[in-house]
Amino acid sequence: MTQELTSPSPAPQAPAPHRGPGWWRDAVIYQVYVRSFADSNGDGIGDLRGVCGRLPYLKALGVDAVWLTPFYASPQADGGYDVADYRAVDPLFGSLDDARDLIGAAHDAGLRVIIDIVPNHTSDRHPWFQDPALARERYVFRPGKGERGELPPNDWESIFGGPAWTRTDRGDWYLHLFAPEQPDLNWDNPDVHAEFAAIMRFWLDLGVDGFRIDVAHGMVKAPGLPDIGHGEQARLVGSQVLPFFDQDGVHAIHRTWRRLLDEYDGERIGVAEAWAPSAERLALYVRPDELHQAFNFHYLRASWDVTELRGVIDESLAAMRPVGAPATWVLSNHDVVRHRTRLGGGLDRARAAALLMLALPGSAYLYQGEELGLPEVTDLPDEARQDPSFFRANGQDGFRDGCRVPLPWSGDLPPYGFGSGGSWLPQPADWAPLTVEAQTGDPGSTLELYRTALDLRRRLPGLGDGEISWQPAPEGLLAFRRPGVLCTVNTLGRAAALPLPGKPLLSSAPVTIDGASAVVPGDSCTWWAI
Ligand code: GLC
Ligand code: CA
Repeated sequence: MTQELTSPSPAPQAPAPHRGPGWWRDAVIYQVYVRSFADSNGDGIGDLRGVCGRLPYLKALGVDAVWLTPFYASPQADGGYDVADYRAVDPLFGSLDDARDLIGAAHDAGLRVIIDIVPNHTSDRHPWFQDPALARERYVFRPGKGERGELPPNDWESIFGGPAWTRTDRGDWYLHLFAPEQPDLNWDNPDVHAEFAAIMRFWLDLGVDGFRIDVAHGMVKAPGLPDIGHGEQARLVGSQVLPFFDQDGVHAIHRTWRRLLDEYDGERIGVAEAWAPSAERLALYVRPDELHQAFNFHYLRASWDVTELRGVIDESLAAMRPVGAPATWVLSNHDVVRHRTRLGGGLDRARAAALLMLALPGSAYLYQGEELGLPEVTDLPDEARQDPSFFRANGQDGFRDGCRVPLPWSGDLPPYGFGSGGSWLPQPADWAPLTVEAQTGDPGSTLELYRTALDLRRRLPGLGDGEISWQPAPEGLLAFRRPGVLCTVNTLGRAAALPLPGKPLLSSAPVTIDGASAVVPGDSCTWWAI
């Protein structure tokens, strides 16, 4: 007799079991890119009140925490990662009262709140940079090379493309690893340390549960700021320690922040956005006296291939084991092509990748809209683009706007309930079937798949933690055991048969059961009860 599992099992209604200390070890953390999430006042730009209004949605989705991208006072040269005042909310996004209300409302809903902190650089409009005497001490200024100082002090390039140095009208040069509007701070200066500790206290006192630390691998530069070697940088970023990335000195800073976080009750956490050349070097950021988590960009970069996936999963877990930190997993964020598009297999593969990720031990990061199966928007008109890397050729892929298109909530036409006044980036005309409204209650939708997966993850004891045990699987497939669950992944473009592993709990695509064997569709992932 053939039985088809076409839809996820309905989510049970009882409250989730109480979760003990170490909430972050297996937390599912949802990244809200504030500008593109929900607009409360009709100016086409997402804001804090918009997020507040959608907390019930996030609660129902079943995530544990939200991470808010920067909403601080900023000229917005790099989507708010250029901060002019770390203690003020940009009027674009609301007010400090809105931030306070949002933190309170999230806590009332049982959600934690993590905010972004940007310590590697400020905006060039920050009062420190505006004051030449202060600036010289607190940023990285150097005389130029060449007869008249007309050449940059070294050969470093900006991650966004072009030289990492800009000359001031006073004749000296300042370092900016990102846009010229983002001068790098001088972390040899104790005033910089003191200021960031004070900023963190400000927000911890307001109730935030932690920080996502932007460019956590960048604050310390090698003494003497040595050249990298002509043309080598692009090849070496991410695969080697560079004079400006992953220097050992950054760890002393993270240790001071850990001590600061530990002074507060309620398990406040620090999460490193660190691009380290290996899983082992990444693990250094989460030693017991440093941060709690670090993003696993090695996982994000893996292609849809059994050897690569298994390799990066094993390496990540092995690297974290000695330091006792949970592994983290991430498929999409505001800096990369959405995984539905990046993995090259459309929605089926995106759904399978999500179920695989959510079956792994550790903490998972979701990026807003992936639960709707949103694709990258690849045809934005040039005049709509705002990403600074787009305007500085040859930099960090240059196309980060395509993953930042505002979310579709409801209705048949743009702005699909994002707000009442359009959206800062145009939304595709064919997104009506992808709205939250269209997907809610449809058992075949991606939104319901995520909801069910998150619900099961909370209910199956130990699914978010512990070890993974690989099982034999046909070529092109992965199979691994987790507490109470066996997970199979078919990375092939076609269906595959396997001995029936158990009772299907949840599948990204319908599986067929025939006696003692099961057929799993191409690009699918299934959780089986064992
Ligand atoms: C991080 C952010 C990115 C930003 C950069 C500079 O990589 O995720 O969006 O452009 O830092 O702050
Ligand atoms: Ca707005």
